[in-house]
Amino acid sequence: MKLEILTYPNPLLREVSEPVTKFDESLKKLAADMLETMYDANGIGLAAIQVGKPIQMLVIDLSPRDPEESRHDDSRTELEKKITQPLILINPEIINGVGKTTYDEGCLSVPSFFESVERYEKIEVKAQDVDGKEIRIVTDGLLAICIQHEMDHLKGTLFIDHISFTKSNKIKNQIKKKGYPTKEEMEEERKSKRKSLEKA
Ligand code: NI
Repeated sequence: MKLEILTYPNPLLREVSEPVTKFDESLKKLAADMLETMYDANGIGLAAIQVGKPIQMLVIDLSPRDPEESRHDDSRTELEKKITQPLILINPEIINGVGKTTYDEGCLSVPSFFESVERYEKIEVKAQDVDGKEIRIVTDGLLAICIQHEMDHLKGTLFIDHISFTKSNKIKNQIKKKGYPTKEEMEEERKSKRKSLEKA
């Protein structure tokens, strides 16, 4: 069942999610619904709080869905390739993080905005699967970035909290005042960006 994705400034997105203690059928159903919702929105990751459930669960799938789209495959690191996706992580904890990397992040809860955020380059994560079994993941690449982004949601943090104060405020005020750009406005923006690139 497709669920509604909450968007900033919905106050629920600021809630701190609780650890999962019951690994029952309703948890599995929520994980399946979150995946369906994420795929439908063309996203690569989703935390439970983004659909209004304040529990420590997130789903991720970076594998290419469109057969013609192979960009994720091409850029996947050796460590990423070892991890089967979709990935469902419950009660995740970063037990080790090394290096630094930046990526232009976006978020289904802050649609149409993209900003460069700094993260650990490589992480080791301890978590549980939907049956409560402990899992350990060591990864880097986009998967490591995505896990860190989704884990932020569990603390009520959004990627726009990580950028400069000025930029962050500008985006937040724009959304609060004007709401999110419509599809037409986004298309216009893309066109004008393309034009300025052509001129450059
Ligand atoms: Ni997000």
